[in-house]
Formats: sequence, C-alpha cells, structure tokens
Amino acid sequence: MNCIFGLRKSEFHFMHDISQYQDFFISYLKKQSIQKEPQNLYAPIEYILGLGGKRIRPVLTLMAAEVFNTSYTKALPAAMAVEVFHNFSLVHDDIMDDAPLRRGQETVHEKWDLNTGILSGDAMLILAYQYFEQYEPNVFRNLAKLFSKTALEVCEGQQWDVDFEKRNDVTIPEYLKMIEYKTAVLVAAAMKMGAIVAETSEKEGDLIYDFGLNLGLAFQLQDDYLDAFGDPETFGKQVGGDIIENKKTYLYLKAREFSSPEKASELEQLFSLQLEDNTDKIATAKTIFNESGASKATQDAIEMYTFKAFETLEKMDINAEKKDILRTFGENLMGRKV
Ligand code: IPE
Ligand code: IPE
Ligand code: MG
Ligand code: MG
Ligand code: MG
Repeated sequence: MNCIFGLRKSEFHFMHDISQYQDFFISYLKKQSIQKEPQNLYAPIEYILGLGGKRIRPVLTLMAAEVFNTSYTKALPAAMAVEVFHNFSLVHDDIMDDAPLRRGQETVHEKWDLNTGILSGDAMLILAYQYFEQYEPNVFRNLAKLFSKTALEVCEGQQWDVDFEKRNDVTIPEYLKMIEYKTAVLVAAAMKMGAIVAETSEKEGDLIYDFGLNLGLAFQLQDDYLDAFGDPETFGKQVGGDIIENKKTYLYLKAREFSSPEKASELEQLFSLQLEDNTDKIATAKTIFNESGASKATQDAIEMYTFKAFETLEKMDINAEKKDILRTFGENLMGRKV
C-alpha cells in the first residue's frame, strides 16, 4: 500500500538511530564464522575485525538503505563487505605506514609478521566480495561494479599518499585528489551501496554518493588533524605517525603556504628526515602547524566540507527526519576525538 491517510508510504518509514545501527551491525558481525584453518590466515582477520573501531562505513550503508525505505536487514551483507574491505585496507596501510598501533592494540604485521599481514589482507579483500553473493543478479552486479571501481581508486589514492612522502612540491589540489581516492570514495560508496540495495533511483543514489564524498573529505582532514593533535590516551594510533613518515597532509601543506620562505624551507627540510628518535621532529612540526595558522585552516576545511555535504542533502527527495539523522551523523563526525 502506497498511501496511508494521504501520506506517502516513505514518510512512514521508520529510521533507527546511529547507535542502533552500530548494534545491528556488531551483532551481525559476531554471527559470522570467520575462524577456520589455517589459523595463521584467519586469526589475524578475526583479530582486526574484532578490535572494534567506529564502524562508520557499515552504519552508513544500513542507514542509507533505510533512508530509501528498505529495511537495514537487507543491507547487512553489503555493510559487512564494506567493513571487511576497510579493515583489509587498514592491515595493508599499517604495513605501508610502518604503524605500530591500531585501535589501541598492536597492528597485524607487528603482532604476527609482514607476510601474515599481506596474505590475511588479501584474503579479506576476497571475503569482502563474497558477501555480495547474497544478492540477486541485478543488485549483485551494481554492488560489484561500484565496489571494484572504489577499490581500485583506494589503491590509486594509497599510491599517491606514499609517492608524496618523497616529494616536496605537493599541491593542495593534488592532496585533495589523494584523500578523495584513499578515503572519501569508500565513505561515498558505503552510502551508495545502501541505495543500490534499496533499488532507489540513480539520481538519489548519486546524491547520497556526493553527500558521502564530502563527508569523507572532512573525515580524512579530521584524521590528519588528530594524527598530530589527538590525545595519545584515547586516539588508538601512534600520535605523530604522519610527521614521522613525512606525510604531506593538509596541516603540512597549509603550514608551508602560510610561512615565510625561510620557515617554509625549514619545514621542507624537516619533512625529508628519517630519524630514529622523532620526539623533537614531532614537537617542532606541531608548533609550526599551530603558529602558522595551519591548524585553524584545517579545522575550517573540515567544517567547509561537512557543510558542503549538508548542501547536497537539501537536494534530496527524502523527508526532514531522514535529513536530520544524516546531518546529525555529519555533525558527530566533525566533533570526533578518535
Ligand atoms: C581509518 O578509518 C582510516 C581512514 C580512512 C582515515 P577509521 O577512522 O574509520 O577507522 P576505524 O575503523 O574507526 O578504526
Ligand atoms: C588511510 O589513511 C587510508 C586507507 C586506509 C585506505 P591513513 O594512513 O591516514 O589512515 P590511518 O591514520 O592509518 O588510520
Ligand atoms: Mg596509516
Ligand atoms: Mg596511510
Ligand atoms: Mg591517518
């Protein structure tokens, strides 16, 4: 029935709140039997997926399905695919970034070894795809197509990220393209997958993708900010890791832009070093980030991309309650500390 007392059915569709979507996803995750032989392939997968994390991407998939009037239950396998892929990318990212800590615990390649991290990661990428097999052909095809495109883009973004470590002439547009690819496209795809599962119109699917893309840009800018200024007690990753690795983050690029030629070349010099003890390097970089105005510029950019996402929301043909939930999600992300 499409019409109840003159209201469209869509206006009756009930949404859950963010913490409920999180709970739904976690109980689905717990029901999956991942552990099997050989132990050394599957134990790291169970380990990383069990370490928690914010579960942002699967929550967005479930939420998007309900925004388009389809029960979250139908989107659970797609949400799982997105989270397994995300965790795969983290296992390999931690190898590439030489990161010791993830979610407050040892990274997979530290706890096991490099080869384990590589192969368990590979297996996770395949596992992620397998979850799409639960959908009928048309939905399956659309999910797999979006997923393949997104996964390749993530690899491209990750390669740029690594290439930029060795360069001192990275521009802001290059940086923005890099974070769009390594991070934002997956946030966008997570949302569009909810739309695909709900078999909504292409127009609405593209709009929610655009919403996710801008939210994803804000999200990575915030990740860069927290990498330098997060609280080591709660952040869960090595604070200053990007500075150690000479990552050309927004903080770095803006600091260079805002500094005198002398200060700028000092910064360039600092971000070409590979040291044993990074204490002074981290302290110096953070002081320059703050005093140059780069920290403030990063905060402003986070806000700008979040608001840009909210503008897309206005173009969508969904009711006010749904827009509110999506807006609240964006606002929470902006205020996050982990
Ligand atoms: C970390 O993602 C990697 C980035 C793209 C910044 P999250 O911050 O979503 O990590 P978890 O899953 O919550 O640990
Ligand atoms: C991560 O970027 C992007 C992907 C994992 C694809 P980062 O390297 O900044 O993520 P964190 O800070 O290690 O979580
Ligand atoms: Mg990293
Ligand atoms: Mg990285
Ligand atoms: Mg980071």
